[in-house]
Amino acid sequence: MNQELLKENITEIEENILEVEGLHKGEYDVQAVQYDKLISNSLYNKLMWGNVPKDYSDFCKKGLKNNNKGTIADIGCGTLSFTYKAYAEHYKKDLYLCDLSYEMLSIGKNRIENICEDMSNIIFLRSDALDMPFKDNVVQTVLNFGLLHLFDNPSFLVKEIVRILKPKGQLFLTSLCTDRKLSAKYLNFLHKKGHVANPLNSTEIRSIVEENGIKITMFKVKGGMVYISGTNNTYTQQKI
Ligand SMILES: C[S@@+](CC[C@H](N)C(=O)[O-])C[C@H]1O[C@@H](n2cnc3c(N)ncnc32)[C@H](O)[C@@H]1O
Repeated sequence: MNQELLKENITEIEENILEVEGLHKGEYDVQAVQYDKLISNSLYNKLMWGNVPKDYSDFCKKGLKNNNKGTIADIGCGTLSFTYKAYAEHYKKDLYLCDLSYEMLSIGKNRIENICEDMSNIIFLRSDALDMPFKDNVVQTVLNFGLLHLFDNPSFLVKEIVRILKPKGQLFLTSLCTDRKLSAKYLNFLHKKGHVANPLNSTEIRSIVEENGIKITMFKVKGGMVYISGTNNTYTQQKI
């Protein structure tokens, strides 16, 4: 693990799990097991979002394959339902799997431990996506799946991602969107219940990503999910 990338307010709470000191609990803690069951269900994904789990895992693999060298951070990694096999295959890479919820991270860690021959390069990091403990411009690849639609001001999330990305570092992002009728209906329902932020369409999400300094190299919508990849096109003072 490369601790030099991290700010200093980090504590190891158990083997392979670090956390930012004083961080509040994640809202997903109380529903981690039920949530994991739901999102791992193929029928749910097909009906509600018009996607199959392979769509998500293939996109994650694409992000991992694109990275030859350099740190990878999955921000809002959840229980790794779709991604643990890909991470286990790429166990030699410098991997930070980050989430606010300890319970979500814990399920993810168990999943990967069962199939991964060597966990020494994999760090679970309990942290807030809007205030990541990474120093500026240190991460080569950010993976960010199914998180943006939770934030009332998603620009703050993209800004924080751009801050930690190296110049020309890569972003692979997915978000729920309103492009598909049934998914839009369900998203609006979830919004009314307070589970997601005000739903956006894929064009709005694209603009937010671009406006905050990502040069988009791939943009695809499938059902109620937008898939975006791009590179950090901004150059800050603190380049390393
Ligand atoms: C919809 S789930 C997606 C999980 C995973 N990326 C996936 O695709 O299955 C959202 C995840 O984001 C986490 N989360 C919510 N707010 C967060 C925040 N402010 N910082 C970091 N993680 C957060 C939740 O704990 C949850 O695990």
